[in-house]
Amino acid sequence: MPCALPVAVADAIVCINMVHISPWSAAVGLIEGAGTILPAGAPLYLYGPYRQAGVPTAPSNEAFDQSLRDRDPAWGLRDLEAVAELAGSAGFSAAAITPMRPTT
Ligand SMILES: C[S@@+](CC[C@H](N)C(=O)[O-])C[C@H]1O[C@@H](n2cnc3c(N)ncnc32)[C@H](O)[C@@H]1O
Repeated sequence: MPCALPVAVADAIVCINMVHISPWSAAVGLIEGAGTILPAGAPLYLYGPYRQAGVPTAPSNEAFDQSLRDRDPAWGLRDLEAVAELAGSAGFSAAAITPMRPTT
């Protein structure tokens, strides 16, 4: 069920570091809510660490994931594929993934 986003219309939505430190229902509410208020073609940006099929998860992210789940079993790194599927069912086109570059 879409959550009531604090605005009725938007040209774009940016969400930074939320979907892994909240229950899955927060991601569902955000993405379905965004799908109802963004015009066709408008972007929803989700920034943060994810698990991605075929891509090894960095040990630091594995440790971060465990620390999140220790704090709340409903939290944790989300599978990018699950988020993309949810976005697809909310009317978004295929996800454009921009990998985070490790700091040297
Ligand atoms: C790690 S902080 C990220 C804050 C900021 N975006 C950043 O990157 O510094 C996680 C944020 O998620 C928000 N949050 C936690 N649970 C939420 C939920 N169920 N629905 C919406 N926002 C939530 C918290 O209020 C907090 O601002």
